[in-house]
Amino acid sequence: MAGASPHSRGVALIGSGSAQAAQVITNHQLGQRVETSDEWIRSRTGISTRRVSSPDQRLSDLAADAGRSALEMAGWSANSLDLVLLATSTPDDLFGSAPAVQAALGASNAVAFDLTSACSGFLFSLVTAAQYLRTGAMRRALVIGADQLSRFVDWDDRRSCVLFGDGAGAVALEASDDDGLLGFLVRSDGARGGVLNLPAIDSDAPLADDARHRRGGYRPIEMNGQEVYKFAVREVPAVLECLLERCAVSPETIDWLLLHQANQRILDAVADRFAIPRAKVLSNLAHYGNTSAATIPLVLDEAVRDGKIQPGHLLASSGFGAGLSWGAALLRWQGPA
Ligand code: ACO
Repeated sequence: MAGASPHSRGVALIGSGSAQAAQVITNHQLGQRVETSDEWIRSRTGISTRRVSSPDQRLSDLAADAGRSALEMAGWSANSLDLVLLATSTPDDLFGSAPAVQAALGASNAVAFDLTSACSGFLFSLVTAAQYLRTGAMRRALVIGADQLSRFVDWDDRRSCVLFGDGAGAVALEASDDDGLLGFLVRSDGARGGVLNLPAIDSDAPLADDARHRRGGYRPIEMNGQEVYKFAVREVPAVLECLLERCAVSPETIDWLLLHQANQRILDAVADRFAIPRAKVLSNLAHYGNTSAATIPLVLDEAVRDGKIQPGHLLASSGFGAGLSWGAALLRWQGPA
């Protein structure tokens, strides 16, 4: 395997990839199902369309497609990977979908597991994978963010169904002397977790004699949109500010703001707080809505392939969502050799 010395302490972002769900659903189409309008959705969220997987499109299919495209960009063979880390809240199999992705890719030397942290999942996974690379325990990792929240959205709840979509994105990471993860901060606050949930069903079923058990299964997403909004516009700037200070980086030197894509108003509020021009705020919300763990690598991959993100560019990234969970990372994109 190519890469760094066994004692290297850096991690380089070498390749990216993404994959789209099969169906495009417009605001007008949602207006046929719930009482809403294209104007309301666009003005409150910035979303025009979202993509929804077809019933035969599995989460692991999307994730493997995104992973394959990141491997192609990196120029790596799948069997050079040591780790496949899948950030998802919607696995095909609750025991984990990463091994299915590993098998689909042919990454036979990699350990594969899932990490669940809703919309913060990709950022948390990137940081987690980096720890294996920094210690010298591993050399190459594929970090995939993929979600199919369409399976758990209440499509008759206009307050939430307009927000979400499906998708997948991936980043190929390599141990390197040239460090691309300049710093990170990650946070959780379960005490505030009740504002956004995909909760287990309440059930009480007979087992044997007097014993009873609880059946598995989940209820649709429950969200207090205003509270989630307030959380995001308070915590995201705060965590980014703290990270920039810690890394002694001034906002003017940031090339791109790479935020979780939940609402255009949240992106704009964060950019304004740091006086970062809107042109430096990566956004694909209009086309995808909130794809949960997939948003950050999906918008990253589009910007890399569009030529916006260039080798050496500095990216300030932040993920936030259910848990509550949030965090920030300062990244330098390297790209393939
Ligand atoms: N179409 C038309 N009207 C609507 C819709 C809709 N789709 N949804 C709500 N409304 C109505 C409400 O019923 C309300 O009407 P009322 O005043 O008669 O009661 C009115 O619009 C205003 O509702 P608000 O909830 O105050 O609207 P707000 O401006 O806060 O926008 C939104 C709602 C878009 C959900 C916003 O709060 C938001 O983006 N919050 C963040 C949500 C989020 O990012 N969630 C994901 C987090 S990431 C993760 O981990 C999954």
